[in-house]
Amino acid sequence: MADDVDEPSEFNDEEIETDEMFDKEKNLSFKLFSSRYNKRGFSFTNLFESVLDVVADGFSSLVNNVIGEAKYSKTTGNRVSYKGHQVLRIHPMTPSQVDELREMRETETEDIKFWTEPSGNRTTDIVVAPDIIDDVKDFFRQKKIEYKVLLPDLQKTIAYQNPKMSKEQRDDLVTNQGHSMTWRRYQRFSEIMKYLEYLEMRYPNLIEVETIGHSYEGQPLRVVKVSTGKNEKTGESKPIVWIDAGMHAREWISTAVATYILNELTEKNSTYSKLLDTIDWMILPVSNPDGYEYSHVSDRLWRKTRSSYSDESDSSSRYTPAGLLHLVTHYTKWFWGKCEGVDPNRNFDYHWGQDKIRNGASTDPCHETYEGPQAFSEPETKAMADYIMSNRNNIKLYLTLHSYNQMWLVPWGHTHTKPSDYSDLIRAAKKAAKSIHKVYGTSYKVGSSADLLYPTTGASDDWAKGKAGIKYSYTVELRDRGAYGFLLPATQIIPTSREIWAGIRTIARIVTTDI
Ligand code: ARG
Ligand code: ZN
Repeated sequence: MADDVDEPSEFNDEEIETDEMFDKEKNLSFKLFSSRYNKRGFSFTNLFESVLDVVADGFSSLVNNVIGEAKYSKTTGNRVSYKGHQVLRIHPMTPSQVDELREMRETETEDIKFWTEPSGNRTTDIVVAPDIIDDVKDFFRQKKIEYKVLLPDLQKTIAYQNPKMSKEQRDDLVTNQGHSMTWRRYQRFSEIMKYLEYLEMRYPNLIEVETIGHSYEGQPLRVVKVSTGKNEKTGESKPIVWIDAGMHAREWISTAVATYILNELTEKNSTYSKLLDTIDWMILPVSNPDGYEYSHVSDRLWRKTRSSYSDESDSSSRYTPAGLLHLVTHYTKWFWGKCEGVDPNRNFDYHWGQDKIRNGASTDPCHETYEGPQAFSEPETKAMADYIMSNRNNIKLYLTLHSYNQMWLVPWGHTHTKPSDYSDLIRAAKKAAKSIHKVYGTSYKVGSSADLLYPTTGASDDWAKGKAGIKYSYTVELRDRGAYGFLLPATQIIPTSREIWAGIRTIARIVTTDI
């Protein structure tokens, strides 16, 4: 495969002019036209064909063909550039300042992306496009909202994050270790899948890889079961620890940690014989393959799945004036923003769609936290949930790995109310955090999702506890605290993995002996 040797850090250096025609006076005359919009492909042949199509298909297909070309393209030519984009950390001090941020967040455009939801007791990180940076900073100054620049040029940080690997280096790895995995760089999906096949072949008595479903684009969802068989003393099935990672595409560190754990459990299985004697492991390292690949080849900061519901606007009303207006608004939005994809972590069927819980999820397909048209609309979340459901009696610990923030989050996310066994969950989490701290002194905060972060509906940990009945259910937000955010350099994969693995071993022991 040609793009097997990927260069995710490549710069896209094309100079792009902004088009004043599209300036929009909004809030502080934020220009809605950022460099990336021009990346959508355009050709006259397509336009001509589109005009022909229109006769048959109507207006929507014209718009779709003219502006939608980049949608299915996977070539690196369409790579989104974040040249000159900055990450700002905002520190709201008063409720009215939080409201200002929320307002900004609600009108989320491609020019300002929120990496964290605005909330009273914490900072919020946002990505700002180059052409509006000065306006945004002026606005904060004028409102006396404190901010600092975390990343002065996002594209440079992207370029720095993942070292390249030559074909020779890759071949050397295969010769030396039988697979091309390394934890010194982030890996592409195909590489990870090959690694899972290698594990199954190399450790047939320990590893079983099960394909539990397929993604929207048809990629396999593969769970690795690590098990030495039934408990030797009792003859019974062992308690299972479940770990999923990569639900949010751009959170590469989570997938790297999951494969690191697999590597530990297999290559060093004699070191972990006690752990393997008492616990079975189920690990889903890439739970959103389409998004994961998209974040490697097209948009490093992609979060959601890659399904598309933007064509599903009600066609019966398409030719009424209101329907047409809706359609135009819809396509304008689609054009300006990127409306593909659903946030898998808002798509689980537990308190799903209760959007009234402030900003718990979004009903807008163009939004980063779009919950989907219905619960489990995504084949990825559905497959995961079905599989967990069928193993629910044995799964004693549900862990979903995310980044970033260094937090060990306890349900609930959908409410500030605490579950009745909250103190058990906190106690175990605190022990995990202590083990993490012992390794390199890294601090993880422990608390409820709603309290420490922000309310969310349809998240997987809430579902695992509320619907699947797994008592110990957690979301772990890995490194860092924002120095690099989602762009954690590959040099931190091993230290991040080491410390978190220490924490996971601790909590796994606690919860599998708690009867
Ligand atoms: N970063 C994660 C997200 O926004 C955290 C979710 C926390 N809430 C929860 N219920 N686990 O999806
Ligand atoms: Zn996440």
